[in-house]
Amino acid sequence: LLVRGFTFVSHYSINMANYQRFESENFFKRTDGSKDRFPSIMDEESVDLSIIVPSYNEEERLPVMMNETIDYLEEKCKKSSSYKYEIIVVDDGSTDATTDVALGFSKTYGDSKIRVLTLEKNRGKGGAVRLGMLSARGKYLLMADADGATKFADIQKVENKLEEIDSKPHGRALVVGSRAHLEKDSIASRSIFRTFLMKGFHLIVWLLCVRSVKDSQCGFKIFTRNAARILFTNLHVEKWAFDVELLYIAEDLNIPIAEAAVRWTEIDGSKIVPVFSWIQMGKDIILIWVHYYFGLWTIKRNLD
Ligand SMILES: *[C@@H]1O[C@H](CO)[C@@H](O)[C@H](O)[C@H]1NC(C)=O
Repeated sequence: LLVRGFTFVSHYSINMANYQRFESENFFKRTDGSKDRFPSIMDEESVDLSIIVPSYNEEERLPVMMNETIDYLEEKCKKSSSYKYEIIVVDDGSTDATTDVALGFSKTYGDSKIRVLTLEKNRGKGGAVRLGMLSARGKYLLMADADGATKFADIQKVENKLEEIDSKPHGRALVVGSRAHLEKDSIASRSIFRTFLMKGFHLIVWLLCVRSVKDSQCGFKIFTRNAARILFTNLHVEKWAFDVELLYIAEDLNIPIAEAAVRWTEIDGSKIVPVFSWIQMGKDIILIWVHYYFGLWTIKRNLD
């Protein structure tokens, strides 16, 4: 068990080598061809909204999602001339043309609005979201999936909710998109075995880690800048289960959390193979709990 535990720690922990590699990756391309370092989340905010899009081999689906997102945001810019947004596409070590596709959008809309963070090696969704968040300029920061499964217009709902629960003066809050209202439909179309695994996973999450939300796994989550600062500097898990650790940290820090129902479509080519993934994630949840319970990981309560 100790050896397994150790393997887990060395596999998941964000160690110095990881940081150093990020230092060498943390650039985006300007439209004139030059390279610039991303700013830090510790800097002052300079846009209203950052959207972080973790993307692994998404050359097919990314353009559809980007078009929907940009259409919505450009519309908003037309209505309010001071409104500013940025989209950070984090290419998580893709082997296809994800970076080139994203850079095409950067060329069209400018490198202030669309930036591409290309990671040399695949880290996992949690690692990609984290590094994108740490490079963002937004007052609010949204993570959104490249497959466009969530209707982007629902940003308005999660953003309104965030404003409502934002805890002043610290300004820490987060709102998670929720598909819990769709659960009945999805159960109807699933086999009993899958439903059983899904319920089992939810139960483990509830028992060990997170009780404040029903749907921990939805890829649509919005943070205030101060919440993102403290949460993403504390995060350890780089794989799928990072959502649960994120919420676990938020609960521990008493950061206000709310859910907002979002419209969601199952998109073809989903990479998360259900049966396998529920078991894998269940195991990861137990390991997250073990790490915090035995003090192998601790939560930093304030930024230095
Ligand atoms: C995205 O929008 C651009 C410009 O309107 C268009 O040329 C392109 O075909 C669209 N791509 C998709 C996948 O919808």
